[in-house]
Amino acid sequence: MPIMRGGLRVAAPCKINLHLGVFDRRSDGYHPIESIFQLLEFGDVLWIDSLKKSSGIELCVEGPVSLNSSVPPEQNIAYKAVRLFQSASGDDSGWYICLEKRVPLGAGLGGGSSDAAAVLLALNQLTGYPLSRQQLENLAAKLGSDVPFFIKCGITETTDYSAANASTVNTGTTNAGTAYAGTAYVTGRGEQIELIDVLAPWCVVLVNPALHSSTPEAFAMLDTFRQKSGAYPKPLIGRDRLVRMLETHPASWTFYNDFLEVFMEIGRPEMQQSYSAILRDLKALGADFVNLSGSGSTCYGVFSAVESAKTAYKTLLNRWPFVELTFPLARRGNAVVQ
Ligand code: C5P
Repeated sequence: MPIMRGGLRVAAPCKINLHLGVFDRRSDGYHPIESIFQLLEFGDVLWIDSLKKSSGIELCVEGPVSLNSSVPPEQNIAYKAVRLFQSASGDDSGWYICLEKRVPLGAGLGGGSSDAAAVLLALNQLTGYPLSRQQLENLAAKLGSDVPFFIKCGITETTDYSAANASTVNTGTTNAGTAYAGTAYVTGRGEQIELIDVLAPWCVVLVNPALHSSTPEAFAMLDTFRQKSGAYPKPLIGRDRLVRMLETHPASWTFYNDFLEVFMEIGRPEMQQSYSAILRDLKALGADFVNLSGSGSTCYGVFSAVESAKTAYKTLLNRWPFVELTFPLARRGNAVVQ
């Protein structure tokens, strides 16, 4: 049972990239991508409540993953999301946010992006839906390239603990009979998102070697690698081919992540060693498909057999600092979005 507090409890699930193709840098500095994003059950949890007596923002961080204490709260993306929401909606309330941080940082799992999306969605609900879904997506894109995906997926489990009996509120329209699994075909710099209606009958073991991977540095490294090696980006695969592959058994997937090759060629030695060891471990323990998520540093294995995944999870817990067994997250209607 969660500790009872006021306000909303909001889940901020993480994602993996099943596929990630990166193309040449655009004039605005961003790289177009072609990716398959998959929402997972594992993630952070936020508690959001109004401050009755002040108009400030109070942010507290709890949970197993600690943030760098020298970084001021104003630089936390959840804090920035409050400010952005307020300037777009005209809201001038004070807000208390307690962030239970579980998703490792700089890990390619979109933890911070999902926190930001959860804040936008929750504040919109708590203030009576002043912004449309499209407006929220536009705000999300200002916070980061991965944030709109989490808005689009319409996260999440929202429970109003200020209401009598802690009832779950506003579960919205569930898509009865539709097997959404939080899967999306993502292009642009990450803001063009097409949800894919596909079954995902597998589970995931996430493994992070406790190495922070900076997204801008990873993209810069990819540019350097291509310049030096003369390698061209691979051609666009296209939505239909990627979706057809998703519908096959994970053992036959040929998805890739362009960052993995770059790290293996010119990445830090500890990254190269960790990634190759984790991917080898996952394969040896029965993963049907293995890859790196985002710009690192989390590697994952997709298992069609849950028993193998459990064994892999237990074995890898003894070898790596962060290991998690989780599942694709079904998109449950629009919990907090109109
Ligand atoms: O959008 P976000 O703030 O997450 O991006 C951080 C940095 O990563 C950008 O400033 C850019 O250097 C790089 N990036 C990129 N192409 C993308 C996404 C991010 O080059 N599609």
